[in-house]
Amino acid sequence: MSASISGFSKLSKSKKIDWIVDTYFSNTEDAKRILKQYWNSNDKLQQLHDEFVENTITNYYLPLGVAPNFLINGKLYTIPMAIEESSVVAAASKSAKFWMDRGGFKAHVISTTKIGQVHFMYQGNPETLKNYFKHIKSQLIEAAKPITKNMEKRGGGIVDVELRDKTQDITGYYQLHAQFETQDAMGANFINSCLEQFAKTFKDEALNFDAFTAEESDIQIVMSILSNYVPDCLVRAEVSCKVEDLTDDKTISAEEFASKFIQAVNIAEVEPFRAVTHNKGIMNGIDAVVLATGNDFRAVEAGVHAYASRNGRYSSLSHAKIEHGIFTFWMEIPLALGTIGGLTGLHPLVKLSLELLHNPTAKELMQIVAVAGLAQNFAALRSLTTTGIQQGHMKMHLMNILNQFEATEAEKTTLVEYFKTQVVTHSAVVEAIHQLRIKNEK
Ligand code: MEV
Repeated sequence: MSASISGFSKLSKSKKIDWIVDTYFSNTEDAKRILKQYWNSNDKLQQLHDEFVENTITNYYLPLGVAPNFLINGKLYTIPMAIEESSVVAAASKSAKFWMDRGGFKAHVISTTKIGQVHFMYQGNPETLKNYFKHIKSQLIEAAKPITKNMEKRGGGIVDVELRDKTQDITGYYQLHAQFETQDAMGANFINSCLEQFAKTFKDEALNFDAFTAEESDIQIVMSILSNYVPDCLVRAEVSCKVEDLTDDKTISAEEFASKFIQAVNIAEVEPFRAVTHNKGIMNGIDAVVLATGNDFRAVEAGVHAYASRNGRYSSLSHAKIEHGIFTFWMEIPLALGTIGGLTGLHPLVKLSLELLHNPTAKELMQIVAVAGLAQNFAALRSLTTTGIQQGHMKMHLMNILNQFEATEAEKTTLVEYFKTQVVTHSAVVEAIHQLRIKNEK
């Protein structure tokens, strides 16, 4: 039976758990045991996690894996990845090793501008509004100085603010469209604070602008918020090699592989159903590093997919070509990331992950994350166009199935060995466990 409750957030953690288990679980002791077994025995560490969000009742673990051998712009990295999908870290590692032997990944940041908007309603003369904006623009920036002072010391700040007329879309709708540079911070709080200050100055000072009628001076602010669409916060990642060096697989020639690979990319460029899955594979790599480094993967996801449809049709983020016997595979994607602020200084595993990456600047992290995405995409397309994806996936999934059946270490060793030469399917693994257990009983 479900129930509603008021004042839940005021209850202690153990009272919250009591209410949840009593309300929703038949075996209350078992539910409590499961929740509590994920508590950290270090009280301070547990309190840190409890306070990240409201109403924490336990911790939700994800594996933190690492993919070594990433050669990026001539520097070697071991990349931390927080992800539950069994084949992702293995695929990244394989791809990293493959490209390490072929000159590694090249990456560079194209731009770093972030966007925020004040959305407002104004029903008066558009020309008078334009004049008001011209008059008030420097004051908007000046009034935000207490917020921008520190960011300016670090080389960031407000890049520009413009007035945008959106009345073609909604009657009376205008924006203050602002560009920001936030250096090593993701900058969400900085941008939102600037925008809220813009909105206040813009509304308050309208009352003192003589050219407005009384009605015109009553500007209605709807909201002030950053945009997670950051097409001018762009990074490029690339790999290339001679076509003849493109495969270490004996079952397919380098030329045939290159041609099939490019066909697969071309299909994702023109076919949205495929493009979504293709890009999902890229995000397997991207999200895992974004999460490990304490960044906002929802923001990244939203921005990347919007970028993938910037030309009016959802399309592949990556591209491939052969020119003068050289195979090139590349991708340009928007990534708003930070290496200071937010979780980066708080979560011990995030700090550790950043240290593992040589404490990168935000620009360096953009390059690393883009490379992880490209590597993942390469691994997926390589499997898809040669062996098929299931071979690798099911090999990795084998361990999940064995764990589900609570296989002992000895059983795991035997069955992993057995499935080196057998096709892994769920039923084949179940059958093999069954047979092994019968044999062991005899
Ligand atoms: C699975 O998580 C990702 C893939 O589907 C990506 C792709 O199809 O390119 C394998």
